[in-house]
Amino acid sequence: NLDVSGLVDAEGGLLDRAVFTDDQLYRQELRRVFAPSWLFLAHTDQFHKPGDFFTTYMGEDPVIVTMDKNRKLRVYLNSCRHRGARVCRADMGATRNFTCTYHGWAYDLEGKLVSVPNQEGYPADFSPGQWGLVEVPHVDSYRGLVFGTWNPEPVSLRESLGDMAWYMDAMLDHDDEGTVVVGGVHKWVLAGNWKLAAEQFATDWYHVNMSHASALMVMSPSGKKPKDEIVHRTGRQYVDPNGHGAGFPVHPKNRFDARTVHDWADYPAMRERLGEARVEGPLTNGHATVFPNFSYLPVNGSVRIWHPKGPDKMEVWAWTIVDKSMPEEVREAQRLYNLRTFGPSGIFEQDDGENWSEVQSIAHGFITNGVALNYQMGMGSEREDGRHPGQTSELYSDAAGRSFYARWRDLMNTPAWHEADQK
Ligand code: FES
Repeated sequence: NLDVSGLVDAEGGLLDRAVFTDDQLYRQELRRVFAPSWLFLAHTDQFHKPGDFFTTYMGEDPVIVTMDKNRKLRVYLNSCRHRGARVCRADMGATRNFTCTYHGWAYDLEGKLVSVPNQEGYPADFSPGQWGLVEVPHVDSYRGLVFGTWNPEPVSLRESLGDMAWYMDAMLDHDDEGTVVVGGVHKWVLAGNWKLAAEQFATDWYHVNMSHASALMVMSPSGKKPKDEIVHRTGRQYVDPNGHGAGFPVHPKNRFDARTVHDWADYPAMRERLGEARVEGPLTNGHATVFPNFSYLPVNGSVRIWHPKGPDKMEVWAWTIVDKSMPEEVREAQRLYNLRTFGPSGIFEQDDGENWSEVQSIAHGFITNGVALNYQMGMGSEREDGRHPGQTSELYSDAAGRSFYARWRDLMNTPAWHEADQK
């Protein structure tokens, strides 16, 4: 294990590019950042009856999320106990059991091994009860978002979210009915380290007016790029000690850019429920990351995970979620708006992916790799602003980025539970 203290100077706002390129660090990240953290898995709306399942990853570990016979969500390592093939090779669906296609071992919804072809060939003391699927020990949800962790003794999901939950509620808690998923899960591959995307959603509003200039002109009714000073002056950035972050402009109207959604939204009711500050702030077209690799865009209803696929590659999985109370035509308007802007070929998404791939494509250069990156914007600006919980900074700031990497550094330097005998 490497000590990464010299790579992350969160206090001085400097970052060594090895955090994006080094193979050994990447493997340590899987052990010490992903394995102990609460990781986003799915939305509860994807499971309505026993046997509904969705396959995804925790870090690089493949997992199956399914509803058992008692309607409890359970998560299993998607790897057969025999020779290790995946026992479920579909993206999603409904089943009575998970049958491995290699030799036919079958597991029920409770993860129990229930069928072994030619079992008589095994020794008399072979006990199928000892060969069930490996189960993720802790699974919990927050307002429809399902998370799991391999950590046997984690802090609760709610505790790990801390004040971030207040910001998340601006997207998830518009009324008593909660949210549902519309459309499928979009998946695409990007050349770039997963942290480039996660940190941007936590901290980087600064790129918007440059990177998205042409997209902003296309979206603007006047065809001109909107003036950024107002957004810059009024916006805030939430800086969470657990590495989460959120950035949002503050403006009193026009939160939903999809006109149909805007016209349908009951703003007085939302102000009543969430308060002025939240409706005028985090419910705007902001962005956010829940450490380590779950991000969302409240006004688009886009939630996404940046799956790590080696230091140089990530796979983006994105859902569109809407208020369950939305009528069909409003849901459809939101789905199309999200696709147009932040779908795989969305006009903003394209700009972001290009940036991350650009940064990654040169980061392996010997000299380049040794030149530190600057995360000093907004140094010392974090404070309690009296309107939003926790510490906030200016909108144009790297404060949440510094906090993201400080959290990453702390986890990287801390032995996880599975290293107990090495401590
Ligand atoms: Fe699954 Fe052999 S690998 S049954």
